Amino acid sequence: MGPATPRPEAPLTTITTPFDPGDPGFLADPYPTFAALRSAAPVHEHPGLGMPVAVSHAACSAVLRGRDLGRIWADAEPAADFPAFNLLHRNSLLEREGEPHDRLRTLVAGAFNRGHTARLEPWVRGLADRLVADLAEQVHTDGSADLMTGVAATLPVEVIAELLGVPEPARSALRGWSNTIVTMYEPSPARVRRAAAERAAAEFVDALRGLAAHRRRHPGPDLVSDLLAAEIDADELVGTAALLLMAGHEATVNVIGNGVLALLRHPAQWRRLVADPGLDAAAVEELIRYDAPLQLFERTAVVDTAVAGHQVPAGTKIAALLGAAARDPQVFADPDDLDVGRAPNPHLGFGAGVHYCLGAPLARLEVAATLDALRRRLPDVRLAAEPPRRPDFVMRGLRELRLATA
Ligand code: HEM
Repeated sequence: MGPATPRPEAPLTTITTPFDPGDPGFLADPYPTFAALRSAAPVHEHPGLGMPVAVSHAACSAVLRGRDLGRIWADAEPAADFPAFNLLHRNSLLEREGEPHDRLRTLVAGAFNRGHTARLEPWVRGLADRLVADLAEQVHTDGSADLMTGVAATLPVEVIAELLGVPEPARSALRGWSNTIVTMYEPSPARVRRAAAERAAAEFVDALRGLAAHRRRHPGPDLVSDLLAAEIDADELVGTAALLLMAGHEATVNVIGNGVLALLRHPAQWRRLVADPGLDAAAVEELIRYDAPLQLFERTAVVDTAVAGHQVPAGTKIAALLGAAARDPQVFADPDDLDVGRAPNPHLGFGAGVHYCLGAPLARLEVAATLDALRRRLPDVRLAAEPPRRPDFVMRGLRELRLATA
């Protein structure tokens, strides 16, 4: 990031309340609002969120890549009420910068790159196929079935459990822990949700400590065993496992849900994909671009800096709105069109810079395996009902996606 000199062509501040992240109308389709904001300025003040938001692709990319901006963890307060939640995040590589981040990322990437995605591929494809086969059977017997409970919410958490080697009963509890902990990432979570998040974090920490003790004595082919072999610190192991569970699970659930919904709303694109499995890889990227599962990432300025001419004083925050970046016409031709063959597709859905998603190859495999199973088991799938949406903005997803056949 360059010196904090405003660029003359960019307005310094646009003081507005650009959108209400809790408004169901906005959540149903935030993209026209993003387009209006983007055409007015690349960065807007957002008094409701208490920080400016970047909305152009270039400005979001600058937020994610800027070395004057960092993920600076601030403990949830009062800290005495959140010991486990804070422990998980303080020790997560996603929440650190500089030497501790780079050391931990090298260690985790080294363990991850010991062939875990290749090891898991046949298992992931087999599981996706079984889940979609059950879904198809339910569609054929009952007339419709929910993709979210049947497939989207099940596959990613099972994959993380397999990656980490988590046995029962913790395995069955993982999804609930993750869902409960991530409610803290939404703007102003309610008191009771905060208390539940701490309880879930404490149970997760206990389960992981137990798993680590077991794997120290009985190493397996899993990632926890590889991390222990690399002599990871005990708290960092727990923080890493929590990060993999939450980052690796929640986003993938919503890519599958949002992505299949996008395809069903664009039947010609679904037919293209059914006819040509060679499009799977491009389709996965396009589904992540078209309806981003993670809408907002924050950074804190380490020194006085600027993004697209907008001053960000040291110690203050700025957010990148990935859904807005993903529809920027400066970068994507016809950005509101879904094009399963889109190439190139430089979306920021997996982030950019030093925090770029470590699990992208595994996530791509999970979404592609699901699309492949749907193509084979339910080629004539259609939407059975208008899907209800989760009320969250940052983690954008559906509650239910009921499928039927034509
Ligand atoms: C389609 C699903 C996924 C999406 C859209 C996604 C997106 C992202 C994004 C945007 C970031 C960067 C956050 C930032 O810059 O502040 C990130 C980081 C990360 N993701 Fe993913 N992710 C997905 C799946 C996964 C999976 C399956 C795993 C692991 C099993 C994973 C592990 C990670 C990790 C460890 C980081 C932190 C990297 C670092 O801080 O250096 N993600 N992800």
